Formats: sequence, C-alpha cells, structure tokens
Amino acid sequence: PKEQGWLAGGLFLYNGCWYPSKILRNIITFQRHFQAQDLDIILVSRPKSGTTWLKALIFSIVNRSRYTNYSTSPLLTTNPHELVPFIEFTLYDKKELPDLSSIESPRLFSTHIPYASLPVSIKGCNNTRIVYICRNPFDVVVSSWHFAARGRNSLERSMEDFVGSFCKGIEGFGSFWDHVLGYWKESLENPSKVLFLKYEDLKEDTDSHLKRLADFIGFPFSMEEEKEGVIEEISKQCSLSSLKDLEVNKTGKFMPNFDNKSYFRKGEVGDWVNHLTPSMVERLEKIIGEKFEGSGLSFQAST
Ligand code: A3P
Repeated sequence: PKEQGWLAGGLFLYNGCWYPSKILRNIITFQRHFQAQDLDIILVSRPKSGTTWLKALIFSIVNRSRYTNYSTSPLLTTNPHELVPFIEFTLYDKKELPDLSSIESPRLFSTHIPYASLPVSIKGCNNTRIVYICRNPFDVVVSSWHFAARGRNSLERSMEDFVGSFCKGIEGFGSFWDHVLGYWKESLENPSKVLFLKYEDLKEDTDSHLKRLADFIGFPFSMEEEKEGVIEEISKQCSLSSLKDLEVNKTGKFMPNFDNKSYFRKGEVGDWVNHLTPSMVERLEKIIGEKFEGSGLSFQAST
C-alpha cells in the first residue's frame, strides 16, 4: 500500500464500517473494555472536521478555574490531542489495558468512531455527554487531502482520487453521511446526551456556541465571568492563529508520521473553492443531496 502511518495496511471493514487496519485491534478493545462514567465528556468527529479546535475549547471551559492565569495554561505547552486523548489511537494502543478509572472527573476523551459502533457503556450511561462536531463535506475533503499530503510529506493521491473515495464512503471511520447522520439522529432523539455542533456555526459566532457548549457539558459561565470577558478570552486563546503560533504546535508529533503542525492549516470556511473542480462539486452535491434528503441537515457548496 502507498499509505504510511496509521493508514499503512489500508482499511478493514468491521461491523459495517471501514477502519484503518492498523488500529482495528484498538477499536475492538475500546468497544469491549471501555467503561463510561457519569460526567465523562466524549468528543466525537469525523477526521478533519474541527476536532483539534473542539478539544482546545472543551479543555479550556472545563479547566478555566484552575488556570485563571493564562500563562499557566497547559494549552501553551501541550498539543490539544494530548490534553484530550483519542481513545482508539492513543489510549488502547498497548497490549495492557490502561487504567482509566483513576483519571480525575470529568474525564475528557475523543473518538472518531461512528455512533452505531460506540461501546454500549457510553450509549447507556445517562450522564455521559457526547459532543459531536460536523463540518461541511467540501471542506472536509480538501482538509483531508492536505492532511494526507503533509503527514506523508508528499502528494501521492490526487484530489480526484480523494473525492472518489469520499463519494464511495470507503474511508477510515466510514462514510461521511453515515457518520454525521448517526450522531445527528441521536442528537434529535436524545438532546441532553448528544450535542451536535457545526464547524461553520462555531466559526461564525464562537462566543455564543461556547456558551451553549459550556451549558451542555455542565460548566456554564456565570454572569460575572461573562462580564469579565472570560468567553471572549477562551475563544481568542483557542483560535487557529493563537494555537498555530505556539512552539509546541509548530514542532513535535503526537502520533508517528503526523506532526502537530499538520493539525493547523487555514481553518477557513469555503477553502474548497480553491481546490475542487466544478465536476467534483457536482458529484459531491449529488450524493450529499441523496444521502441527507429528509434528514433536516443539508450541505450546499454555496454555504
Ligand atoms: P483546514 O485543513 O481546512 O485548515 P481536525 O482537527 O478534525 O483534524 O481538523 C483540522 C482542520 O481544523 C484543519 O482545517 C485545521 O486548520 C482546522 N483547525 C485546527 N485548529 C483550529 C482552530 N483552533 N480553529 C479553527 N480551525 C482549526
């Protein structure tokens, strides 16, 4: 296979979803052994949908009283993926099971796995909160292409090829639509358990979505904090420009083959116009229209 890093070995179809073969064992261990606890906060996303940003925001909301002085914030010295670990990439990658029970509550974890494949313990624990971030598929394709290019330091797959796999739904963590629709439906049926956020909404009005997020995870901002500008401060500290400029995020890796810096690129809504041809857009619009019809969710290239 041409791919390296976590995609070396290609994809494997398991329980109706394509996973990177290299981490399939971790995923099965996660499904079998993860014990959710009350107050756990699980961040879920499809890759390249704003995971890193959401990690920084949630970490900052939860820990704001501990690091009132920003100069002591771990965000300054630690990549967000180390502050909120990926369950399937970093927690279950050893032979021995990790002891997660001793982690201080609320435990913050993240995963890319689809709703249908989440461990029963997460689905069944009433007080575990799930925050899902979704991004428009046009930008997801483009961001994924850049990420693969940077991670391997060379471009071996064309954009055409990326769009083709995306439309077929043959990608790590399964098809975009199954992933998004799984969490979307659950957020409608169980709104106190699943919060569904859109990257574009977060970009457009970060502060009001930060309030929504803080309320949902049980860390609401007080009137006093609002007056003191705590929300604006968190949104500034977690902005792409702030995080991208930090030494820790310019150097180092948190997974083999992937530099911390490859998680911070442009962070723009609509960057796809610079990369997708009209025929690629048409192909994507057709399949997205079919898959999301009647769901209450829509993604047009113009938005
Ligand atoms: P682009 O490639 O479009 O720039 P993920 O974190 O899920 O891997 O997604 C990565 C995408 O989110 C990249 O998008 C990256 O630039 C963007 N991103 C990372 N940190 C961000 C932040 N703090 N604010 C906004 N976007 C961010």
